[in-house]
Amino acid sequence: MRIHILGSAAGGGFPQWNCNCRQCDGVRRGTLRARPRTQSSIFVAPDGGADGVLFNASPDLLQQIKANPVLQPARGQRDTAIAAVMLVDGQVDHATGLLMLRERGLPLPLWCTDPVAEDLTQGLPLLRVLGHFCGVERHGVEPDGRAFTMPGVPGLQFRAIALASKAAPYSPHRDAPVPGDNVGVVIEDTRRGRSAFYAPGLGEITPPLFDLMCSADAVLVDGTFWTDDEMIRLGLSKKTARDIGHLPQSGPGGMLEWLDRLPARTRRLLIHVNNTNPILDEDSPERAELARRGVEVCEDGQTVEP
Ligand code: MLT
Ligand code: MN
Ligand code: ZN
Repeated sequence: MRIHILGSAAGGGFPQWNCNCRQCDGVRRGTLRARPRTQSSIFVAPDGGADGVLFNASPDLLQQIKANPVLQPARGQRDTAIAAVMLVDGQVDHATGLLMLRERGLPLPLWCTDPVAEDLTQGLPLLRVLGHFCGVERHGVEPDGRAFTMPGVPGLQFRAIALASKAAPYSPHRDAPVPGDNVGVVIEDTRRGRSAFYAPGLGEITPPLFDLMCSADAVLVDGTFWTDDEMIRLGLSKKTARDIGHLPQSGPGGMLEWLDRLPARTRRLLIHVNNTNPILDEDSPERAELARRGVEVCEDGQTVEP
């Protein structure tokens, strides 16, 4: 399978429209060695097939489609390689791009859990709005780790796992989580027996979740923040990374400690990187530390073949 990294930044993108932090300012002016990044999304297609699954519909989706011709195979007057969309949560950065897919003849095949579908019908009623355009063909996702397949994408199999992270601010479960507010996805290439684990929002790693990560050939996991108090120290928020459902990379119990313990063969990639995270600065000591530990930072336009 091929995983196309469409958007490797967290909500806000990099640079963020209103931000003049050292990094946003530096990448805007070209004084920082760093790449601009769009908001969180990947596209996964089986070997030899054009059609695949869009995981998360970013507010930057139209820009991402233009930048990745693989998404537009041009086989007919109107065409797309997006056979289905699957959402890992109902957050703005993962869902609002759905509106950009409204000029379709047929309802949009959409895979998500019940809590996410509820949030996208009530708090952020995108599914109701889409009902006035192409409509949505909703497929339920149980966050129980059971394997399922999607029509139109032969050779790929999926499993969704409930994660401890955070529902969106407009969700009634923001502070009272239910299983399925956030999921991680195992994507398996059943012909080649290779797999990837994708979890752009991951607040806590439990032993069973870690076992599952150990069984994947590549993990693409939460790269939002380097330190737990990153946003507080910059004066941008009063909340820690953990408060908003993101496990920071550094410090005790942080993502890097977990990644270090994965089998040597596992490819480790950070995705959903916030504009404040020093790993975006390619000359930073934090980026050098990732290199020493064999951890990659996803870039827009990159292809990963686990
Ligand atoms: C998150 O990942 O915590 C959210 O997407 C933040 C946001 O963009 O509102
Ligand atoms: Mn996000
Ligand atoms: Zn910034």
